Amino acid sequence: MASRLRGRRATTTILACLLAAGTALTPLSAAAAPGPIYQNPRKPVADRVADLLGRMSLDDKIAQMVQAERNAATPARAAELRLGSILSGGGSAPTPNTAESWADMYDDYQRAALATPLGIPTIYGVDAVHGHNNVVGATIFPHNIGLGAADDPALAERIGRATAEEVSATGVDWDFAPCLCVARDDRWGRTYESFGEIPRNAVVNSTIINGLQGKRLAAPGSVLATAKHFIGDGGTTGGKDQGNTEISEAELRAIHLPPFRAAIARGVGSVMISFNSWNGVKDHGNKYLITDLLKNELRFTGFVVSDWNGIDQIDGQEGFTAAEVRQAVNAGLDMFMVPHDYAKFLDLLRAEVQANRVPLARIDDANRRILTKKFELGLFERPFTDRSFLKTVGSKQHRDLARQAVRESQVLLRNDGVLPLPKNNAKLFVAGKNANDIGNQSGGWTITWQGSSGPITPGTTILDGIKQSAGKNSTVTYDREADGLDSSYRAAVVVVGETPYAEGQGDRPDGLALDAEDLATLAKAKATGVPVVTVLVSGRPLDIAQQLPQWNALLASWLPGTEGGGVADVLFGAYRPTGKLSFSWPSSSAQEPINVGDGKKPLFPYGYGLTYRR
Ligand code: BGC
Ligand code: BGC
Repeated sequence: MASRLRGRRATTTILACLLAAGTALTPLSAAAAPGPIYQNPRKPVADRVADLLGRMSLDDKIAQMVQAERNAATPARAAELRLGSILSGGGSAPTPNTAESWADMYDDYQRAALATPLGIPTIYGVDAVHGHNNVVGATIFPHNIGLGAADDPALAERIGRATAEEVSATGVDWDFAPCLCVARDDRWGRTYESFGEIPRNAVVNSTIINGLQGKRLAAPGSVLATAKHFIGDGGTTGGKDQGNTEISEAELRAIHLPPFRAAIARGVGSVMISFNSWNGVKDHGNKYLITDLLKNELRFTGFVVSDWNGIDQIDGQEGFTAAEVRQAVNAGLDMFMVPHDYAKFLDLLRAEVQANRVPLARIDDANRRILTKKFELGLFERPFTDRSFLKTVGSKQHRDLARQAVRESQVLLRNDGVLPLPKNNAKLFVAGKNANDIGNQSGGWTITWQGSSGPITPGTTILDGIKQSAGKNSTVTYDREADGLDSSYRAAVVVVGETPYAEGQGDRPDGLALDAEDLATLAKAKATGVPVVTVLVSGRPLDIAQQLPQWNALLASWLPGTEGGGVADVLFGAYRPTGKLSFSWPSSSAQEPINVGDGKKPLFPYGYGLTYRR
């Protein structure tokens, strides 16, 4: 009786699995008749890819090369067209925005994909560029500019691993990170996505790829990484986002190529092409860069993905044409991020192949590259979310790691002795628009694409961190505008800087000055005669030379993310600062672009950073 029951339950479980996995996928069992080679995990990946390719129609193949936005393609629609991939753009999240509902959403896409005739799983991509930043409650790490200042490759790798775990908890297989851009002009709105102004910073921190991808892509908690954006994104004239990088090939190779070489050596699975042009030619249509350089010379064997509607820009006109589709595919792009117009893309590409303007061999090559990664990720064997990782989302362990990253990323630029702050018996004042704002200290690419001010996700603000660090008999008084600050205070910590932005919306061609509110708060604090400790929360060096003499200390905090306690660790001396500038700090906006070795005299040079005496 007992054994019959057990047997029944097992059968029910297998049936439930079958139903969950969709009918197309035959589970492997020793007793079952041998299925197709591509479904056999004991076969080499190359054999499985070849077998599957042999079963795919032209429509299957061109669809495999397409990535649509979740907002624009339901699971049923994606499966109907057999799309190869889905993405969440910045801020594109299910409702409610919890890790669990992301997992449910992911599994819905996967279930629909598996129910198609060949049952090819989808691959789902997101921008987890400083932690799993679209998900409320995830751990938000410092943006890359802070990790560049920390200059700790082992730390970057651990952050990659922690991010991959939180991403895995939501099912997502593929991260559009790291950005290996070498930002040469701080007016560029993506400067904070850059580890530093020389290639070395991105090269050493490319360890984050090892953390993301793990020892094996198929291992639990591994995700596919993306080296982006290839190539020259940080070198545009004037720091204009998606602009024109007007430099020689020698300079392109010397400045912008080394991080991609390093990423490929680390086995990065995908590379994203950049929106920028190189000497007037859009990268998205540049066969020399994509095929000759990246695939042939650098021997990149993973797949190449376009940026968001990137092919639209090849001819400089809105939208895309058959000619742009042809040029991009023939240039060597494998996967097309066509968030909304995917059906039109399929029609155009099909016609190009049928007219022999795009060789079938090129389509097969793209499919081979994409499918190889799907097999390597183990998607055919374990297609659904590994929910055992849900407990890692925003976990204490990950937040502790983020706090460590924050304290290591702080760069002390000036100190007349006011820092470290006394822990005990001190009357402290905190002011400034970025003192008590999780959104501001996290920056762009946080919950939404552009990011926003306010309590957008749980975390510790810099003010919270200061309050938690202040010791016995100390008081911490806060007012955003420094109202109430008087000479009775030991020090005023004024937290100012930028508010969130992403991509071109963060371009500042008109200069990098502090805004009127910050200047007013700082002036008010200065007028009281209390020592002023300025904490700058910003995505790049700002133009502060005029104000600097009035400050007793200056700490560059970059965009620390949710763990403001790390800033307090440095302010109170629980951690002696070790961060060093990975950017030359300009003495005025007019100096931009300014980079180490160009002969210009910065306010603080590349590599600068003070510490405390013991
Ligand atoms: C950005 C990429 C990002 C993509 C998907 C683009 O606008 O340039 O970095 O991966 O959007 O969100
Ligand atoms: C998306 C981003 C994308 C951007 C490109 C936004 O709507 O959310 O992910 O990078 O568009 O313009």
